[in-house]
Amino acid sequence: RRGASLTDLAEKINVDAAQLVQVLFSLGEMVTATQSVNDETLQLLGAELNYNIQVVSPEDEDRELLERFDLEFGEDEGDEEDLEARPAVVTVMGHVDHGKTKLLDAIRRSNVVAGEAGGITQTIGAYQVSTEVDDVERRITFIDTPGHEAFTAMRARGAKSTDIAILVVAADDGVMPQTIEALNHALAADVPVVVAVNKIDKETADPSKVRGQLTEYGLVPEEYGGETMFVDVSAVSRQGLDELLEAVVLTADAALDLRANPTMDAQGVAIEAHLDKGRGPVATVLVQRGTLKVGDSIVAGPAHGRVRALVNDIGEHVPEAPPSMPVQVLGLTSVPGAGDSFLVVADDRTARQIADQREARKRAAAQAAGARRKTLDQLFEQ
Ligand code: GTP
Ligand code: MG
Repeated sequence: RRGASLTDLAEKINVDAAQLVQVLFSLGEMVTATQSVNDETLQLLGAELNYNIQVVSPEDEDRELLERFDLEFGEDEGDEEDLEARPAVVTVMGHVDHGKTKLLDAIRRSNVVAGEAGGITQTIGAYQVSTEVDDVERRITFIDTPGHEAFTAMRARGAKSTDIAILVVAADDGVMPQTIEALNHALAADVPVVVAVNKIDKETADPSKVRGQLTEYGLVPEEYGGETMFVDVSAVSRQGLDELLEAVVLTADAALDLRANPTMDAQGVAIEAHLDKGRGPVATVLVQRGTLKVGDSIVAGPAHGRVRALVNDIGEHVPEAPPSMPVQVLGLTSVPGAGDSFLVVADDRTARQIADQREARKRAAAQAAGARRKTLDQLFEQ
């Protein structure tokens, strides 16, 4: 188990922790009984004592923790008849300044770009829009991601919790490093990609060049006999926006079974979280299954709490959030990490117990990482 101490191990294999300290000492490793030890040291000890020590991944460990409370984070959504259609979750990705936020603004007809520090997106914004395709109202959930090279982890997370990726490429700039990075995240997550060739209002725009460039990376446009939809758009002149939404809906209908069970306890992912001066910890979460309700006890990564209020993407308080809805959660006792999963549990006590265990593990893992670093430092000293 990652971040375990010799005392933990001694308990497991029913020996005296002091003996383990001694065995390690004889092997030239100085470790105290309560200090967390790294994987290699555990393996070393195991080999010496003829124990087969298996190091459990943090994911497996968390699964075990939830199992102890009869909980499971994942795909099981109960009976087929409980499944209902849900909006597609679409992540907008691409190189810095290629117009992702502006494009979403245009789709929502609001103005987020004007409010951003330096016009650079530093967090993930999430919105739901309603559109009509073939006279049928369709809702789509959009997640904005930053294009700046510093935010690789955010893009990777964005690609993971999405159904479809819109790859935005500015037609005057063409394919750039984070275009390719974003594409690779989407491919790694096995997510279908729709390309939005943006800024075609510009005189220097060369949309066919973008098509040629992306063909080299395996995204062959439909009009060239390939399978990828390319849509020319302008966030400024609003040209092509309807076609882009249509392409998203077509992709969703053709390739994906977008259903979820709204009757179960909610589960999902935190896409952004921060400490607000007046409101305390605020987490923007995406509900992936179930319905999140005011009053629910939830655990989000190492944070927990009772949902005090839910705020939708236009700032309104709502009593509940169904599948695919992004919503701000108020009432957590601390700030979860972006990308942490959340789930509703039976009561506050359960939420606190799970959160405490995760917090303890996080600390132990950090300590173990520190211990490992120390060994390396000692190595270099010699
Ligand atoms: P990051 O979030 O930092 O990665 O940038 P972004 O991709 O969200 O770009 P953003 O929407 O902030 O737009 C960058 C600049 O391009 C802004 O000055 C926009 O006004 C401009 N812009 C975006 N779309 C268009 C477009 O279609 N045409 C023109 N002419 N300018 C655009
Ligand atoms: Mg942006």
